[in-house]
Amino acid sequence: MAEPAPAAGELERAAQLLRAGGLVAFPTETVYGLGADASSAAAVARLYAVKGRPADHPVIVHFADAARAFAWAREVPESARRLAARFWPGPLTLIVRRAAQVGDFLTGGQDSVGLRVPSHPLAQALLAAFGGGVAAPSANRYGRVSPTRAQHVRDDLGSDVDLVLDGGPCEVGIESTIVDCTRGAPVVLRPGGISAAQIAQALDAARDQAAPGAPGNNAAPVPRVSGSHAAHYAPLTPARLVAPHALDAQIALLGAQAGVLAFSRPDERVDFWLRMPRDPAAYAQRLYGALRELDAAGCAVLLVEAPPEAPEWQAVLDRLRRACRD
Ligand code: TXA
Ligand code: MG
Repeated sequence: MAEPAPAAGELERAAQLLRAGGLVAFPTETVYGLGADASSAAAVARLYAVKGRPADHPVIVHFADAARAFAWAREVPESARRLAARFWPGPLTLIVRRAAQVGDFLTGGQDSVGLRVPSHPLAQALLAAFGGGVAAPSANRYGRVSPTRAQHVRDDLGSDVDLVLDGGPCEVGIESTIVDCTRGAPVVLRPGGISAAQIAQALDAARDQAAPGAPGNNAAPVPRVSGSHAAHYAPLTPARLVAPHALDAQIALLGAQAGVLAFSRPDERVDFWLRMPRDPAAYAQRLYGALRELDAAGCAVLLVEAPPEAPEWQAVLDRLRRACRD
């Protein structure tokens, strides 16, 4: 995939903007992030204001490599080390206990912090040029569909963002897998680009090496995950998840008012029909752009043909269930 290269000096300008407390949107392999200097309370406050995000919702901090990331952790459990070694740089966020310098303004007051080392070359270059941690939620307004192209960020945030680095379309297309490593046995809080099976496989190896009976802290409070709110990742148009066998009847009922996201060929009764790939990874990459296109078409209702209830569809199904509230 041809990616637009940043103009000479643009990366250094982006790093300077971050140092000055500015907001820089940048591509990652999952979705575009809205970045701010994670060591600056003022910069992060502006980030929350622009996103419209409640102050008690924690944000992920991004780094160029695992050594820098883990310097923000008070302790790094073996499970986190193992997962980082296996999947970083890549679409994985690890929740660990926070180090002393990690401000309440990043964690919503929680004792843990989310760390991620993205693999996108432009994210890598920006994080290396900046050197420190970059707080970055997805670069959309709170509760809306995450951006997977630079134009989506410009559409959503306009002049509220100081610079948008354009790295082309995101390869994964949905947010990172989040694994909580603070409570003994690691828990997947949000399915994503790395499957639960891949996480389990990497951890099985780690568990074999762990001292038997190592104490886990199961009494720690369950962390809040804003991505688990029902109305997250939602298109503006009411969307409905429809079983394949029920799609025809729904179309007959709604006719031209409906927009459709489906595996099958377009139906002449519907004006806005987007055909989706049968491969889960290709579907994920296309999903948010498709929801945005259907939103822009001005349909009354979006009908989304449900993918199979299979492990490889877990992350896509998670996002579709949140998107479909009708
Ligand atoms: O792929 C991604 O993860 C993208 C790119 C930009 O890295 N970022 C992203 O950030 O999706 P955001 O802020 O939209 O979602 C981060 C999720 C939220 O649901 C938040 O609650 C959770 O991570 N999170 C962050 N820190 C946490 C913590 N300490 N404990 C529990 N959940 C945390
Ligand atoms: Mg988000």
